[in-house]
Amino acid sequence: MKKNNPVILAITAASGIIFAIRTLEFLLKNDFQVELIVSSKAYYIAKHEIELDLSHDRKEIRENILKFLKVENKKQNLHVWLDDEIWASPSSGSYKTEGMIIAPASMAVISAISLGNAENLITRAADVCLKQKRPLTVVPRETPLNSIHLENMLKLSKLGVNIVPPITGFYGKIKTIDDSIDFVVGKILDINNIENSLYERWQI
Ligand SMILES: Cc1cc2nc3c(=O)[nH]c(=O)nc-3n(C[C@H](O)[C@H](O)[C@H](O)COP(=O)(O)O)c2cc1C
Repeated sequence: MKKNNPVILAITAASGIIFAIRTLEFLLKNDFQVELIVSSKAYYIAKHEIELDLSHDRKEIRENILKFLKVENKKQNLHVWLDDEIWASPSSGSYKTEGMIIAPASMAVISAISLGNAENLITRAADVCLKQKRPLTVVPRETPLNSIHLENMLKLSKLGVNIVPPITGFYGKIKTIDDSIDFVVGKILDINNIENSLYERWQI
């Protein structure tokens, strides 16, 4: 991904909101433009898991996130949308983006995308990436996985979607949960060709 156009990042109501937040932190600190789409159901999990308030309107959500990440100076690089704001720019293929990352991706959203159900802004933006042949990355969060989950992911994978489960490789000298999160975020960035040194690479 280059910095010519914004990157779409979506947060769904799955466990692991921190993966989105840390990916967003990297993108903002590295001067990417981000169109962030927040599932209306994600606020409860965000509050519970990382004490981040994603309720209220998009202006407040943006302020809360920037404060949480201590990157208030990057305000102009971040647009925030709620998933029912279907009129937002990422809904249209004519709006150029570098592609989309959905982290964490619920099984519900993966199912909707695999069916072509573009009913809300997250699934519509993903549908647009598929039709415009732009990179789409999903970070599926569920365990254990049933055959429906696996079939949906296989279908997306065959369409060229990057499936990046939040699974740590322990060769990266993982000692803390932060190291583990960095490993996953590093893998999300790697698959999108975004240079990073968030984890220790294997080299002999
Ligand atoms: C505490 C909690 C944790 C959840 N974690 C997951 C999860 O990790 N993966 C998942 O697919 N669904 C999870 N769900 C269920 C989703 O929130 C639910 O399917 C929701 O409809 C997804 O909405 P969205 O994809 O529109 O954001 C969780 C629900 C709750 C209440």
